[in-house]
Amino acid sequence: VTTARQRRWPPVVIALSLQAVAAVATVATARVLGARDITLGTLGAAILMGVIAGALSVVARLDWWWVLIQVVFAPALLIALVLAIPRWVLLTLIVLLVLVYWSTFRTQVPLYLSSSAVRAALVPLLPSAPAVFLDVGSGIGGVLTYLADRKPEHTYHGIESAPLPWFVSWMRVTLRRRKNCHARFGSLWNCDLRDYDVVFAYLSPVPMAALWEKVVTEMRPGSVFISNSFAVDAVPPTHTVTVDDAHRSTLYVWQR
Ligand SMILES: C[S@@+](CC[C@H](N)C(=O)[O-])C[C@H]1O[C@@H](n2cnc3c(N)ncnc32)[C@H](O)[C@@H]1O
Repeated sequence: VTTARQRRWPPVVIALSLQAVAAVATVATARVLGARDITLGTLGAAILMGVIAGALSVVARLDWWWVLIQVVFAPALLIALVLAIPRWVLLTLIVLLVLVYWSTFRTQVPLYLSSSAVRAALVPLLPSAPAVFLDVGSGIGGVLTYLADRKPEHTYHGIESAPLPWFVSWMRVTLRRRKNCHARFGSLWNCDLRDYDVVFAYLSPVPMAALWEKVVTEMRPGSVFISNSFAVDAVPPTHTVTVDDAHRSTLYVWQR
């Protein structure tokens, strides 16, 4: 099965193309209804366009968060126009979104956070002897700071490629003067996993095969790789932990 992820076009191009198709379909529907004296109205048209774009995105097998964006795009644009939201507010919102989702179009890994139950479930998975922990794609540093507070004998590193989440994590680490915690800005692919005893990832299905290659090549014997929610195809974990949170998250644990 070919999915949107495997196609040559980036999802943003597919999403915009589907919005264009949805706009044409909406205009055509409005005309057909207009010929029968049924007025769709601007709000009706925006909602219809959102529904069509969402449905097309499901058919195109875009990720769920793309489908959500596709559905709300036209109604949100209309609301912004009707409310005459000042340009600087819209511009600020766009800049914030770009800073948060900076690399998402390329990496296919959006920002969402491990639940507090997942963070708690990580504590017993840490070694008893002082160890070096890495969160690849550390977001706003929630996992790092949580573990650093509870298991201060270890050293914690995070690497994050989106500017705003990285800045928030850096502030959290710096303001609280956490000496055993470090938040670095950059790509996980430039990070040598040899330096870490425990590597934690909460990414998406897209990079898992490549990340596993990196784990196998770089991680030392005796080290541990943990993935929140995303397994590695055809590589059974050493064991799994089912977490009692809203998603019934699974932690996949590989002992190297
Ligand atoms: C799902 S969030 C997880 C955040 C945090 N680790 C947690 O568990 O709460 C994934 C994060 O990985 C970051 N990311 C994606 N690809 C990356 C890459 N190649 N290098 C560094 N960070 C990346 C995203 O920007 C996002 O903040």
